[in-house]
Amino acid sequence: MEVPFLDLKVQYNSIKIEIDAAIQKVLESTTFILGPSVTEFEKEFAKMHSVKYCLGTSSGTDGNHLALWSLGIKQGDEVIVPANTFIATAWGATLCGAIPVFVDCHSKSYNIDPSKVDIAITKKTKAIVAVHLYGQPADMDALREIADENRIHLVEDAAQAHLAEYKGKKVGNFAEVTSFSFYPGKNLGAYGEAGAVVTNNESVFQKIKKLREHGQSKKYYHESFGHNYRMEGIQGAVLGVKLRYIDKWTNQRRRVAARYKELLGKLEQIILPVEMPDHKHVYHLYVIRVNVGNNQKNHELRNKLQSYLQDQQISTGLHYPVPLHLQECFKHLGYKQGDFAETELLAESGLSLPMYPELSDGQIEYVTDSIIKFFKVLK
Ligand SMILES: Cc1ncc(COP(=O)(O)O)c(C=O)c1O
Repeated sequence: MEVPFLDLKVQYNSIKIEIDAAIQKVLESTTFILGPSVTEFEKEFAKMHSVKYCLGTSSGTDGNHLALWSLGIKQGDEVIVPANTFIATAWGATLCGAIPVFVDCHSKSYNIDPSKVDIAITKKTKAIVAVHLYGQPADMDALREIADENRIHLVEDAAQAHLAEYKGKKVGNFAEVTSFSFYPGKNLGAYGEAGAVVTNNESVFQKIKKLREHGQSKKYYHESFGHNYRMEGIQGAVLGVKLRYIDKWTNQRRRVAARYKELLGKLEQIILPVEMPDHKHVYHLYVIRVNVGNNQKNHELRNKLQSYLQDQQISTGLHYPVPLHLQECFKHLGYKQGDFAETELLAESGLSLPMYPELSDGQIEYVTDSIIKFFKVLK
């Protein structure tokens, strides 16, 4: 049996008629950039997250830049960023000319560890970016407290966490600005590049609206610097259709996660993801960790498990194989191996199992049986 890491085709086929009609409408109206499909989507997406304002963007990366840009982050500033995240979180800071300052992740949630943020704060620190990694919200109360104490901004990177909740409230409500990604493989995925920023602050909304479109509020009158970070009409149309299903798909992801837990929960050699109390995880990724001995052993066995699963036609992923502080592009910042133990542990021994809403019970059982078999043979 083949189990892909994710299957975008099966989802497209399930909503093909609606998607094709929505795209056709954009083609006929020739509203290719922003336009009614994007405006309608922005309205619905904001409503779904109980936030006042939403602006569609050209990608989540651009949303990260817009978020920090709109808050006035500039050259020489420092921005706290988790070491355990996708590189685009750090681009938000670097595109503003600021320096990302990395912080280790928590051993259970894998999100930025608030108890390690304080020591990273200096006089130059202007913001913290909280990433809701793998679909689980970061510890927002603790981060809010630190941000307020130090009078610095708090931003959410919710690229992987559409509809996730912290203490009963949707992500997007804990920071000055939040960015989302609609990269095709995300929980809510466009059919090309797309993203969004949401905020409850009207002045931030107005600033981003201008920055997104060449620093203008009237065509060809440029009041400030800006960029072209607009969402395409076709992406707005696709996302508008998909919004009708996102609740159902989120529940299905949670069902897959629950089933993995049921079937793998007793296996001593791996650690499963933990849904932290009062957090609603939306399982963009389901990351397990091999835990059989020292780091070297865990690392070797993780790699063996991944190739064994590949031989069984099960695709898995690594999120992320090289932590941000060890990336070549940040060499000049002077970090070294051993700086962030939890993040490095995860990079060395973490393995992302297939995760998408349409995974069948048979596929889930095939994945878990294969993992159990792998460890049995080893004994
Ligand atoms: C945590 C995180 N931040 C930002 C991004 C950037 O989003 P995009 O690929 O839409 O630019 C991604 C997605 O890839 C992500 O996973």
